[in-house]
Amino acid sequence: MDSVKDSAKAVEEMKLQYPPEKIRQMLDSFRNIKTMVIGDAIIDEYYFTVPKGRATKDPILSVDYVSHEAYAGGALAIANHLSNFVNELVLVTMVGDLDDRRSFIADALNKNITTRFFVKKDAPTTVKRRYLNSLRNEKLFKVEYLNDLPLSKELEDSILAFLEQELPKYDLVVVGDFGHSIITERIIRLLEEKSRHLSINVQSNSANLGFNFVTKYSSPAFVTMDIQELQYAVSDKFSRVPALAEKLYGRTHFRKFLVTMGKDGAGYFCAGRQAFFPAFVTRPQDTVGAGDAVFSVTSLFAFCGFDGIIPFIANCVGGIAVSYMGNKEYVTKDKLLDFVGQIYGGKVKTR
Ligand SMILES: Nc1ncnc2c1ncn2[C@@H]1O[C@H](COP(=O)(O)OP(=O)(O)OP(=O)(O)O)[C@@H](O)[C@H]1O
Ligand SMILES: [Mg+2]
Repeated sequence: MDSVKDSAKAVEEMKLQYPPEKIRQMLDSFRNIKTMVIGDAIIDEYYFTVPKGRATKDPILSVDYVSHEAYAGGALAIANHLSNFVNELVLVTMVGDLDDRRSFIADALNKNITTRFFVKKDAPTTVKRRYLNSLRNEKLFKVEYLNDLPLSKELEDSILAFLEQELPKYDLVVVGDFGHSIITERIIRLLEEKSRHLSINVQSNSANLGFNFVTKYSSPAFVTMDIQELQYAVSDKFSRVPALAEKLYGRTHFRKFLVTMGKDGAGYFCAGRQAFFPAFVTRPQDTVGAGDAVFSVTSLFAFCGFDGIIPFIANCVGGIAVSYMGNKEYVTKDKLLDFVGQIYGGKVKTR
C-alpha cells in the first residue's frame, strides 16, 4: 500500500480493485464470525433547546427546553454496528444499581445481540447528556453521570470467571474501552491471553483524560485510535501522523492500526506499510460516535485480512456515521453498499 495523494484517482483505483460485488462478498463472509463485544455501556442523551439569551440575575445562558432523545452509545453502539454484519454476537457490559436502564438498553439493542450485564453497586448507568441549540444542533454543554471508581474485587472476579470460560468460544473479541472502569488491568491481561483475535479501541475523553491510553494493551491484533489518542500514546503533540505511527511501532507490538483523523480521513498502518484515504462528507451532522462505527466495521475487515480496503472502508463508515445525530442509527451492510455505490457513481466526492 502506498500513500494516496490524488483522491479522485484513489476512488478510481478502489472501483477497479474492489467492485461492489467483491465488497458484498466480503461483507457476506463476516456472517459466521462469532463475536464478543466487551466494554463500557454509555447512554448518550441529547437535550434540544432554544436559547433565549442571558439570564437577568446571573451571567448565564437561559434556554427553553424543546425535546430530548437517548441513544445507545459506547460498547452498546459497537454491538449494534456489528450486529448487522455477524449473526452471533454477545455483549458483555456493566450497568449501575442506582437506576434501571436495562429495559431502555434492551429496546435499543438489536435482537440478535445476547447480553451479559454486570451490575456495579452505588453507581448510575453511565449517561452523557448534551444540551444543544436545536436551531443549528450546536452543543452548549454536557453533563456526565458516571461512577468510574475501581471495581470491587468481587465484581472483578465474577467478570474474570465469566471471561475465562467464554473467551475461547469466540473468533473475534472487540473491546470498547472508554475508561469508565469495566476494563481493569487484570481483565486486559485475561483478554490478551485468552482471545483468539483481539480488536481494541481505547478512548480518550474528558472523564479519563491522561489515564486511558492504548499502551495499556501489549499485543492486540487490531487497534483503532484518533489522532489525539495516538499523540497521547507516544507523548508527542507536534509530529505528523506517519512519524507518530513510527514511534508507536517502535514502542509496542501493535502491527495493524488505523488512525482516524476526523475531516482529514484515515490512515492505516499494517506490516510496516501505510495508506491514507480522505474523508467524504463535507457537512457532518454530528461526529460523536463516528470513530466507534469505524472501529466496529473495520475490526471485521482486519479479522479477515482484507487490509487493502480498510482506509477506504473506514471513511465510508465514517461518512455514514457523521450523517446522523450521535448514535441515533447504526451502520448496516445495506447502508455501506449504498454509500460505496454513491462514491463509485461520483455522487459523493472526497473532501
Ligand atoms: N468533520 C468531519 N468531516 C467529515 N468526516 C468526518 C468528520 N469527522 C469524522 N469524520 C469521519 O469519521 C471518521 C472517524 O472520525 P474521528 O476521527 O473523529 O473519530 P473519533 O475521534 O474516534 O470519534 P468518536 O470517538 O466520537 O467515535 C473519520 O475518519 C472520517 O471518515
Ligand atoms: Mg473515538
